[in-house]
Amino acid sequence: MKGRVFSGARPTGRQHIGNYLGAIKNYVALQDDYDCIYCIVDVHALTTLEETGNIKENTNEMMLDWLAAGLDPERSILFVQSHVPQVMELHTFLSMITPLGWLTRVTTFKEKARMQPHNINYGLVGYPVLMTADIILYKADIVPVGEDQLPHLELAREIVRRFNNLFGDTFPEPQAKLTDSPLVLGLDGVNKMSKSLDNHIELAASHEETSRRVMTAFTDPSRIYRSDPGHPEVCNIYSLHKLFNPDRIEELGEECRNAGIGCVDCKRLLAEGINAELAPLRERRTILAETPKYVADVLAEGAHRASTIASETIGEVKGKMGLI
Ligand code: TYM
Repeated sequence: MKGRVFSGARPTGRQHIGNYLGAIKNYVALQDDYDCIYCIVDVHALTTLEETGNIKENTNEMMLDWLAAGLDPERSILFVQSHVPQVMELHTFLSMITPLGWLTRVTTFKEKARMQPHNINYGLVGYPVLMTADIILYKADIVPVGEDQLPHLELAREIVRRFNNLFGDTFPEPQAKLTDSPLVLGLDGVNKMSKSLDNHIELAASHEETSRRVMTAFTDPSRIYRSDPGHPEVCNIYSLHKLFNPDRIEELGEECRNAGIGCVDCKRLLAEGINAELAPLRERRTILAETPKYVADVLAEGAHRASTIASETIGEVKGKMGLI
């Protein structure tokens, strides 16, 4: 029997190259060898009120990116979290066996609490419990994610161990699966690439927009004049070249070190590399967007298929917990 993969992402709208390199590339690749389930987690988005206004529009834009990147609804289940409400039931059951101390010490909770001190809601504390419910409702073994999600996966394994100890072996311990670039920095060269920091490049951006954005990126700060030698190992543009221009990486490093190439030309080459790699994806996306009902149909079918698996797990859990 094939192993099962689950992953999710918040409906933040168009995906950026951080999402792509850190997670989506693996979502696509894993379809060859596993039963894959990918979910847009709209309920998680409710924990940060700022993001709720455009949930439906964002879901549509995201799904277009996922499909254009190669997620195949014939092979994978693609759905929206709230369309399969059994996850909320499992979340409640898991919340009864999860010590509060485990949740308040999670680094991402502390960060979120710092970022939105006016809105430290109950759901924010339970965020990793809902995430655990997402994964184990489908008894997934493998979870492709970026590095920032590792603390959540660690907690998911702790919750699974506790459930299995209390009620008998039920769930596999889910393992994270990282890509070769599990943490893509933003154009500021300091923070994780993220839409909320506006330091990102969208997969669906035009050639011009991509070039314009790359040109704003920070490079090696000690290289002030064109004739100054650069230090590629500290330059984020260079690390992006590794991903988008791997064939030229030695040559570009050398030219930077001996000031043979300036930062402007180096960025121009990066923009060309990104545009070349993403051109087929962007083309497919434009075609998919011409059929407005397509995404809705894919998601309806995905919810139907996910729901069948979810109901079976909920029945088993209720039985093991002594509820039925
Ligand atoms: P989210 O929506 O923040 O991000 C979606 C996926 O993209 C990865 N990612 C990155 N990877 C590398 N570099 C970056 N700059 C970068 N930015 C984002 C994230 O690691 C993630 O894999 N909590 C999750 C959503 C979730 C989930 C789940 C994931 C809910 N339930 C169950 C896995 C399994 C989140 O907010 O991802």
